[in-house]
Amino acid sequence: MNSKTLFKDKNSLTIRYTPDTVPHREEQINMIGGILAPALKGDRPSNIFIYGMTGTGKTLVTQYVVNQLKEIASSNNVTINVLYVNCKMKRVADTEYRLIAYLAGLLGKKVPATGLPTDQVYKIFFEALEEKTGVVILVLDEIDALIEKVGDELLYTLTRINQDIDNSKVTIVGISNNLSFTENMDARVKSSLSDEEMIFPPYNALQLKDILLERADIAFNEDVIEDGVIQKCAALAAQEHGDARRALNLLRVAGELAERQNMTKITIGHVDCAESKIDLDHIVEAVKTQPKQSKILLKTILMLSEKSSEYIFTGDVFDLYVTLCDKIGIKPLTQRRISDLIAELDMLSIINTKVISRGRHGRTRTIRLAISGKVYTKVSEYLNNEFNI
Ligand SMILES: Nc1ncnc2c1ncn2[C@@H]1O[C@H](COP(=O)(O)OP(=O)(O)OP(=O)(O)O)[C@@H](O)[C@H]1O
Ligand SMILES: [Mg+2]
Repeated sequence: MNSKTLFKDKNSLTIRYTPDTVPHREEQINMIGGILAPALKGDRPSNIFIYGMTGTGKTLVTQYVVNQLKEIASSNNVTINVLYVNCKMKRVADTEYRLIAYLAGLLGKKVPATGLPTDQVYKIFFEALEEKTGVVILVLDEIDALIEKVGDELLYTLTRINQDIDNSKVTIVGISNNLSFTENMDARVKSSLSDEEMIFPPYNALQLKDILLERADIAFNEDVIEDGVIQKCAALAAQEHGDARRALNLLRVAGELAERQNMTKITIGHVDCAESKIDLDHIVEAVKTQPKQSKILLKTILMLSEKSSEYIFTGDVFDLYVTLCDKIGIKPLTQRRISDLIAELDMLSIINTKVISRGRHGRTRTIRLAISGKVYTKVSEYLNNEFNI
């Protein structure tokens, strides 16, 4: 048997695939469905704010519910218009102009990519809304990215839209995996956006197992998955934070590794390899996308950790960092900014920091590298290539 017989439909394990069933989200589906149901009678539903960690099914569930609503609506001769925007998408939601132009476009009005006064773009969008009968459900996925890029003024306008428009009824569904952005949000925007609030909990290992079993049936041929493989993928993903995307990725990569080795079965060993591969790709990618100053900082920490396996003191890091900046010919950041960057590297799990007491010298923060083995080698090679010091 050759490797071709492992996968039946590999596409079903990628993010592009939308499953027909959504196990373990009945409660969320019913709740969102219930909140949006008035749209079927032509009444405006409350706005909803959906929050939950990454991979907890927010996007999937929302799309599932609005698609079902649209189906019921069309069999009842009612119109429901759904405008879905992923605000992380480049060239769509990075300026107010672009977003409103994009929304107008979804409603069938063409707006030039640049050039019009913003007022004019709004006018076209409002006119397009006026022409629509029935409720318009505006789904703003990754809404934190929108606020970060264009501020909350735009959302204020959107939440007030129904006062300016006679014919149409707009409901906003905001989705985010990051709650902290609401802290700085205008209180009025925040409260009208979250008429209804919903939190998606992380999946546990048993739930992830069910999700994987359903998907594996579609993705793989019969009898190619060894006992324990699905459980292992589920357990690893549950350990992290109940992330279905990670669970599916582990299974897909394990399958690809087995395929590459021309194996007839996917084993637990493949899952272990998949885990290291995903982590490796993830961390190396994270390092590559850091700002230059952060990379110099990390290079500094790597150099110090090669000298001693003990904890590294932030004071030593700063001194060597300044020296390296001099060598490279770049202006060093202040100690305060470096502290921020250290905290960021900690968040990315590239380093661990800990505050310790040094007796009469007071308290200080110490650093230890959190990467080892293959990841360490890759990161180290990359930084050596970047900075020839
Ligand atoms: N209950 C489920 N049943 C089947 N597949 C699921 C389920 N929940 C999530 N998935 C799958 O897991 C992946 C992640 O789900 P989704 O994109 O909805 O997460 P999210 O909460 O929107 O994450 P993020 O905050 O990162 O955008 C998708 O491929 C989705 O199809
Ligand atoms: Mg999502």
